[in-house]
Amino acid sequence: MPETIAIASDHAGYELKSILVAELKALGFDVLDLGTNGPASVDYPDYADALAGALAEGRARRGVAICGTGIGISIAANRHRHVRSGLCHDGTTARLARQHNDANVLALGARVVGTETAKDCLKVFLSTEFEGGRHTGRIVKMS
Ligand code: RB5
Repeated sequence: MPETIAIASDHAGYELKSILVAELKALGFDVLDLGTNGPASVDYPDYADALAGALAEGRARRGVAICGTGIGISIAANRHRHVRSGLCHDGTTARLARQHNDANVLALGARVVGTETAKDCLKVFLSTEFEGGRHTGRIVKMS
């Protein structure tokens, strides 16, 4: 059974979200799309909360959060103790967010990263394992 990836964005991120939904499906994942799905202005904390709720309920183990810069939705997601959201802007930050921080949410800024870079971040985020070791105690301290 394919893994389900949850994804949420505000109005600044919904176009990138739809591109990444298609990418996720092409990669063989199921997608839990939590909106928003149009240009009408919404508040990114509501979508961060929906994503955090989906992870807490076990509807997905990992997620993607998108707003204009990625900053607001990442801050809001990280208010939830079970969320470790990493704001990434290239393959290196996506890889290290997994290897060192065991990030379970990839945050992206639709207004600051290009589509191909966002796809790179997504693929690296989903295929990189947590390194454990010296990083484990640091993760435990956050939860
Ligand atoms: C919306 O205009 C914008 O403020 C939001 O998408 C995000 O960039 C906030 O951090």
